[in-house]
Amino acid sequence: MSIERGLEFSILPMPRIHFGPGTLSKLPALVAAYGRRMLLVTGRQTLRRSPVASRILDELRLAGMEVVCLNVDREPSPELIDEAVALGRVTPYDVVVAIGGGSAVDAGKAISAMLLQRELVERFIEGQPGFMPHDGRKVPFIAVPTTSGTGTEATSNAVISRVGPGGYKRSLRHAAFVPNEAIIDPALMTTAPPELTAASGMDAFTQLLEAYLSPLASPYTDAICLSGLERFSRSFELACGSAAGDVAVRADMACAALMSGIALSNAGLGIVHGFASSVGGLFDIPHGTLCATLLAEATRENIRQLRASESGEPGLRKFATASRILTGASTGNIADDCNRLVEHLESLQTLFAFPRLGNYGIKESDFDVIIPATRSKTNPVPLDQAAMRRILAARV
Ligand SMILES: [Fe+2]
Repeated sequence: MSIERGLEFSILPMPRIHFGPGTLSKLPALVAAYGRRMLLVTGRQTLRRSPVASRILDELRLAGMEVVCLNVDREPSPELIDEAVALGRVTPYDVVVAIGGGSAVDAGKAISAMLLQRELVERFIEGQPGFMPHDGRKVPFIAVPTTSGTGTEATSNAVISRVGPGGYKRSLRHAAFVPNEAIIDPALMTTAPPELTAASGMDAFTQLLEAYLSPLASPYTDAICLSGLERFSRSFELACGSAAGDVAVRADMACAALMSGIALSNAGLGIVHGFASSVGGLFDIPHGTLCATLLAEATRENIRQLRASESGEPGLRKFATASRILTGASTGNIADDCNRLVEHLESLQTLFAFPRLGNYGIKESDFDVIIPATRSKTNPVPLDQAAMRRILAARV
């Protein structure tokens, strides 16, 4: 028996996970364990689309909980977090609960992280001038995702955006920010519309593929990514179409998203998420849409660069494995399987008509600002500026 040489990895904390149809009914009991006054952060459509969530809110109030509601209609800005935190400092909350998509859950996570701090949130955002490390003190946080995408219910970071010239999309991060509890109830996801299901599903898929190919991937994250890719492969198109109301299909997608969050926390992400940070700070483009539009070209470029690299073989083998899972077949040849992966990603792009970058006002002349601001430390292979330009130019 041989031991893999150089194998070394650590695993971040996980939330206590409650997964399955109907698990939202556990919320009142979970909340009560933390106290009686709660901040409930919801997405714009959450309570309208999910009558069950509305009913649980009534139950909480009937049980004597004091519930303060905050509605979040976009990716959280520093101002949104600071204003919510200022109100919470007047009368402290015992627990923060977020029910909604990635933006609502990230907002809840950031608010819970800031309620016990005196500074404004920007001081703790990675890469900001005057950055100060956060000490990890926070108010307990419960995440209840209603879309299958970012996997933020399992991650230690919240993405904060200031969109526009000089803007950014960066993380507030600490291992302690992993939610205390994550309730993942696929029944809540059956009412998500097809476009949202497609964009958020492509985010989860991109995260699984990027974490799988990361130089920081471990046997732990590989196992999670492969299982997530299998679930995505069998249920993504069904969730976006004829089986949108099927709880088992939604459970597959919810599980794929959860696994993508666990994997990205532990292995990091690649160039598509590098662009998500740089492009996403400058232009108002939904995160899932950006991933969906760039993934095929980014994969083509990564495969091209791995083929040109002396140490590219393990990465190509992983792309071929992903190809076999996604297409359900193998040619028996790594190079051909890699080509078929790119073809498969392009077919998804065509099938769902993912919008191009130009639809959001992004022009070739913007690349000179975007590319120098793009980082991808955990891409499977280093990409120079010309390679990044090829990816963007193919999708402008
Ligand atoms: Fe993402």
